[in-house]
Amino acid sequence: MRNVTTENVTDVVIDALGKHGEVTPRNREILTALIRHLHDFAREVKLQHGEFLYGCDFLARAGQLSDDKRQEFILLGDILGFEVLVDMLTHPADGTASESTVLGPFYRENPPVLPKGASIVQKHFDNEETIYFEGYVRDKDGNSLKDVIVDVWEDAPNGLYENHDPDQPDYNLRGRLKTDENGHYAFNAVRPVAYPIPDDHTAGELIRAMGHHPMRPSHMHFMIQKDGYRRLISQVFDSRDEYLDNDSVFAVKESLIGQYKPAPKEMGVDLHIEFDFVLTEDETARLAAE
Ligand code: BEZ
Ligand code: FE
Repeated sequence: MRNVTTENVTDVVIDALGKHGEVTPRNREILTALIRHLHDFAREVKLQHGEFLYGCDFLARAGQLSDDKRQEFILLGDILGFEVLVDMLTHPADGTASESTVLGPFYRENPPVLPKGASIVQKHFDNEETIYFEGYVRDKDGNSLKDVIVDVWEDAPNGLYENHDPDQPDYNLRGRLKTDENGHYAFNAVRPVAYPIPDDHTAGELIRAMGHHPMRPSHMHFMIQKDGYRRLISQVFDSRDEYLDNDSVFAVKESLIGQYKPAPKEMGVDLHIEFDFVLTEDETARLAAE
């Protein structure tokens, strides 16, 4: 097709799929929809060539910023509410299992392995509030699940994750615990604080273009896994946080809001929070094992 017009260009590009090589069915589905929506978007806003070049430069700069410490494309996806949408499509809420939410860019593999009840705090801050965080992990029938791997990570009282703060020890405020035979997990930590997502460079450019703010409500991150069950990536939010209703990455769910309460004296910490999780059986893994 030589005579491409504003009207026929979308069909021309879609018709070209697979003409000179293999296209898997899933790639065909994704690319067809991507081309259609991208073209409709350009037609709808009458995108100008200078704006297209700005977009290309923006993405190139985002790529140059990305490394193992800063994942700029996840951040951009978060600011646009895209990661939370993809997460909800991947793990639809069913009213029984715990809801998931965004992973975000700050998870680190291989956190320190700690015994139940240990502290994830390696460095203290003057303004910290110490907490004892505990709960149970169960299946949908209410049976407790033992030996569940529970990864936790949080920001420090200065609002920074350790890998973005040269003054914190490596892996500060990160840990990997296991549930005991009753499905119970517990750890000592500090109350996470609300913090701004990195808002310099391209992420900041996007936030400002949207007229939004960079703040996230205080949250504790969890990644919970056990063979035969779907991995749960989630966060527990602080019921008293002022940003619960306008999270910069739209990740708050009502069911994930927990309450920090004054701790009994014998706990030796300022605050106590209890939060339980329910895992979904992984049908695919179960059928494969049968
Ligand atoms: C986080 O929760 O750590 C996070 C999530 C999305 C974007 C930035 C940070
Ligand atoms: Fe976070």
